[in-house]
Amino acid sequence: MIQIMSDRETGAFEQFAQDVRPEIERRLTAYTQFDAGCPERLRAAIRHSLLAPGKRLRPILVLAATRACGGDISAAWAPACAIEMVHTYSLIHDDLPAMDDDDLRRGLPTCHAAFDEATAILAGDALLTRAFEILASEIANPQHAARCCVALAHAAGASQMVGGQADDLAAEGQPGDVAKLEAIHRRKTGAMLIGSLQMGAIVADGNGEQIERLAAYGTGLGLAFQIVDDLLDFEGNAQTVGKRTGKDKDRGKLTFPALVGVDESRRRASHLIEQAIEQLAPFEDRGDILVSLAQFVLKRNR
Ligand code: IPE
Ligand code: IPE
Ligand code: MG
Ligand code: MG
Ligand code: MG
Repeated sequence: MIQIMSDRETGAFEQFAQDVRPEIERRLTAYTQFDAGCPERLRAAIRHSLLAPGKRLRPILVLAATRACGGDISAAWAPACAIEMVHTYSLIHDDLPAMDDDDLRRGLPTCHAAFDEATAILAGDALLTRAFEILASEIANPQHAARCCVALAHAAGASQMVGGQADDLAAEGQPGDVAKLEAIHRRKTGAMLIGSLQMGAIVADGNGEQIERLAAYGTGLGLAFQIVDDLLDFEGNAQTVGKRTGKDKDRGKLTFPALVGVDESRRRASHLIEQAIEQLAPFEDRGDILVSLAQFVLKRNR
């Protein structure tokens, strides 16, 4: 399936990303001005991490899901920015000395390295709360706003992203198997990708079948995305990846390359992407960006 995709489809994600990134950046900048109550150092720390050159994959997923469901993307900018804020908070905290202890993120010093630990923790807290303020105040349809709050809270919460992060740390240096690893990856990373797709579908008034299909696509995409993240840590180069590499092995993390090897990891990621793409068949041409995005996830080098 992957091999027979045309160049036209492969380019759809890149083109869409190029078109929407300026507006995502503009809004993320505007949403983090804050009033005079926000201390300058805290504002600087928030913007250091949020406005750094991330791939903006989750906002793009929100927008592409809205498009796939036949909706107008003008309703999708707020959830797109909200999930990028929650994602960035998760990265700031993931990098803290108490968690992965990293000093490089998005090609820049991590938040706690550029500022200090307390400021980094608080910058994460502020991004998390600002995200929900944006959902509640910027989505015109109140039902859509409430449903997006629920979807994002669930994806980022104790049984999904935060729970996966807790288990990721608990698994360091411990024996593990593929089932345990998949359960970690699906929650710490996959849930936020599914949440992005769900919010995109919600603001488009997507129907039950569309939402289910997108969740099934996000499940494969999310696991494949984290397998590739593990591979990039294992064999990538810090300059390109924008974060330190070789750290998972040093910390005794449970990862796909450590457990099944590089070739088998790649094979699994390809298979998951193939299955994810199959879920998009009912969307026909409106699913092109999501098809192309899934292919990008396999070949990404950062
Ligand atoms: C990194 O996410 C953390 C994981 C969930 C693997 P991304 O690879 O999307 O990071 P940015 O947003 O582009 O920096
Ligand atoms: C982090 O996974 C997933 C998050 C919820 C932030 P990793 O710890 O592998 O992410 P990187 O490699 O530091 O970006
Ligand atoms: Mg981590
Ligand atoms: Mg990490
Ligand atoms: Mg990683």
